[in-house]
Amino acid sequence: MDGHQTPRVAAVIGDPARHSRSPAIHNAALAATGIEWVFTAFEVPAGGGAAALEAMRVLRLAGLSVTMPLKAEVAEAADVRDDVVEVLGAANCILPLGDGRLRAANTDTDGFVSGLQADAGLEPEGLRVALLGAGGAARAVAWGMAAAGAAEVVLINRTPSKAQAAADIANAAGEAGQPGRVGSMDDIAAADVVVNATSVGMGADTSMPCDPTLLQPGQVAVDLVYEPLETAWLAALRQRGVEAHNGLSMLAYQAAAAFELWTGVEAPVEVMRQAAVADRTG
Ligand SMILES: NC(=O)c1ccc[n+]([C@@H]2O[C@H](COP(=O)([O-])OP(=O)(O)OC[C@H]3O[C@@H](n4cnc5c(N)ncnc54)[C@H](OP(=O)(O)O)[C@@H]3O)[C@@H](O)[C@H]2O)c1
Repeated sequence: MDGHQTPRVAAVIGDPARHSRSPAIHNAALAATGIEWVFTAFEVPAGGGAAALEAMRVLRLAGLSVTMPLKAEVAEAADVRDDVVEVLGAANCILPLGDGRLRAANTDTDGFVSGLQADAGLEPEGLRVALLGAGGAARAVAWGMAAAGAAEVVLINRTPSKAQAAADIANAAGEAGQPGRVGSMDDIAAADVVVNATSVGMGADTSMPCDPTLLQPGQVAVDLVYEPLETAWLAALRQRGVEAHNGLSMLAYQAAAAFELWTGVEAPVEVMRQAAVADRTG
């Protein structure tokens, strides 16, 4: 960097934002690729999404990562929305287009698919997926798996009306027909991949999103929760001989995709994953 220039700034916005692992993940990636930007966190409460995007324009921020509760607000306030953002009504990544306009993207969708490929070596084509939950994360996974060719995406949720909306999203994305439908716990046994996209099991919560005895060896389970890295559900599944993965890969791959959109440089995914783990234990 020229001695007279200050580094460009990128950030995560949300509430809370100070516990976010994004600064650790992105600063590690910036250091590894020799890009002299700084990545920080700004606490922006609900209702502040549009103002944060205005600040991004004025301050010429290089990129924004967006977390709860702002994903819908920034999707609405951006000038240009990717198709997936239009359908999901949520963006987790904002990038400047260079002409003053801001583009809203969603990298959670491909982040899940890439994580599944990396962790389990599974290609999405033809897979039967059972998704527990129907919130923002479930909708992103439903879109990502359906767009990548999953044969079936069954939505199982406490509130059935939300499950239908998420199934509709899978059908809108489906490359192979109409993969989305609302199901029940009875559908778990027939799935190749079972995903916990509910918030059950986060933090000190030791309850489980479904009875682990519904799964058998040969099936793959993914818990999107990454705090803790080993939820009670994952531990019980592993004890039964079920291949079980946590949400760290989705976290690393969605960040990697955002990094590439902002910088145009290939993301060092493994460095990013390790930074996420180190941030947690450090
Ligand atoms: N690994 C990653 O990169 C990544 C990315 C995004 C999110 N996540 C994780 O994914 C989880 C969900 O996030 P989100 O943004 O989708 O949250 P959200 O939009 O608030 O959705 C929460 C979902 O959990 C369900 N739920 C909550 N409490 C429940 C309970 N006691 N019993 C049954 N269902 C319950 C809700 O059901 P109702 O519809 O009935 O309320 C809803 O389907 C969180 O743990 C989050 O940390 C991980």
